[in-house]
Amino acid sequence: MVVDTIGARGDGIATRSDTGERLYIPGVLPGEHVTVRPGEPRGDGRSARLEAVDAAAPERVEPPCPHFGRCGGCALQHMAPEALALWKRDLVVQALGRRGFDAEQTSGVAATLSLPAGTRRRATFAIKGQGGGAVLGFNARASHAVVPIETCLLPSDALRALVAPLRDLIRTVPLPRKGGDCAVTLTDTGADVVLDLGAEPDLETRERLAAFAAAHDLARLSLRIDGGPPEPAAARRLPEVRLGGRLVALPAGGFLQPSREGEAALVDHVLRAVEAAPPGPVADLFGGIGTFALPLHGAGRVVHLAEGAAEAVGAVSALGLDGLTAEHRDLFERPLGAKGLKRFAAVVFDPPRAGAQAQAAELAAHGPGVVVAVSCNPATFARDARLLVDGGYTMESVVPVDQFPWAAHVEVVAVFRR
Ligand SMILES: C[S@@+](CC[C@H](N)C(=O)[O-])C[C@H]1O[C@@H](n2cnc3c(N)ncnc32)[C@H](O)[C@@H]1O
Repeated sequence: MVVDTIGARGDGIATRSDTGERLYIPGVLPGEHVTVRPGEPRGDGRSARLEAVDAAAPERVEPPCPHFGRCGGCALQHMAPEALALWKRDLVVQALGRRGFDAEQTSGVAATLSLPAGTRRRATFAIKGQGGGAVLGFNARASHAVVPIETCLLPSDALRALVAPLRDLIRTVPLPRKGGDCAVTLTDTGADVVLDLGAEPDLETRERLAAFAAAHDLARLSLRIDGGPPEPAAARRLPEVRLGGRLVALPAGGFLQPSREGEAALVDHVLRAVEAAPPGPVADLFGGIGTFALPLHGAGRVVHLAEGAAEAVGAVSALGLDGLTAEHRDLFERPLGAKGLKRFAAVVFDPPRAGAQAQAAELAAHGPGVVVAVSCNPATFARDARLLVDGGYTMESVVPVDQFPWAAHVEVVAVFRR
């Protein structure tokens, strides 16, 4: 059969000529002739396993990672980088198309800004007791099994260097029965690790954890016991990140853009868009620890950050900077409305994958002349963009940013004006 297209999760989609059923096939490319074995029902069709590529697409390349195909972390290592960049741009164009943006409006979507592999400063590894041992890796494709990772091309060298020691460490601690996470973030003052455990560790284990933190010069090692909040097991230094020239504390498990390079690209777009806005305060909504707020403040703007994670708001407030305020606010439940928005010359919003529907509706009605949307989900970005454009904004620029090489994942930074 012939593969029609690649779906949003990175699997090929083909239609069976005998039954008309859709098949979802990992590891293939559009236009390829393939032999597959149909498997379990999935959504409106059925998943299928690739048995052979009978005629390969010109974009097919040798996947660079030995775990590719089993590991669920990367779906598209078999696609040449140029084709992948086009495909990711198309994800954004298609999402906008589904929300009624016509070809003329989407023709301005820029080429994907692709960031190199080997730059990630944070990774969440899956950990699990498996086959009589303990494994650290990534979830296998469409499965709860964990593929043990010997190597991974995505993290920076410093992050990759922690993989083997962490794998050895988790063999000595009580893991959650159903598995859990080990999240590692490299901050500017050292690594911050949050480890899921299934039970309170005994004294000896606690000592081993503290010794591990010292041996690997971690800034902090926190434990999340039975899904509770992270509590420090070794707090050697405050994990801090430099944003807009200021060091800000990263709360355990707090959000940080996955790579410095990705962060710089997003910040650059945000700064340039806001520079063209009239003088006046700027709102950074879903602002985290100030990835945009601090550079905006550094560029001379008065900034108000609103964010749902109290610890992140606390970290920004603790800086005590004149002209930078931070508010703990649930922007799904209580978006800034007419009164809250009226003092701003520009608004930046960067919501989680669910998007910012309620806030976008308020912006559409009461927003300032410049709105910058940053998004990690083309579907909810397109929904929110529709609200803004229906409210009278022009979608001036849309740039897909690829911080996740080889994953079926793309971010967007877009500027709206009126
Ligand atoms: C994609 S992150 C962006 C953070 C920040 N702009 C950055 O680039 O580092 C989304 C942020 O939205 C926050 N968030 C999630 N749900 C929220 C809500 N309902 N109200 C306000 N903030 C929320 C998260 O805590 C997170 O900091």
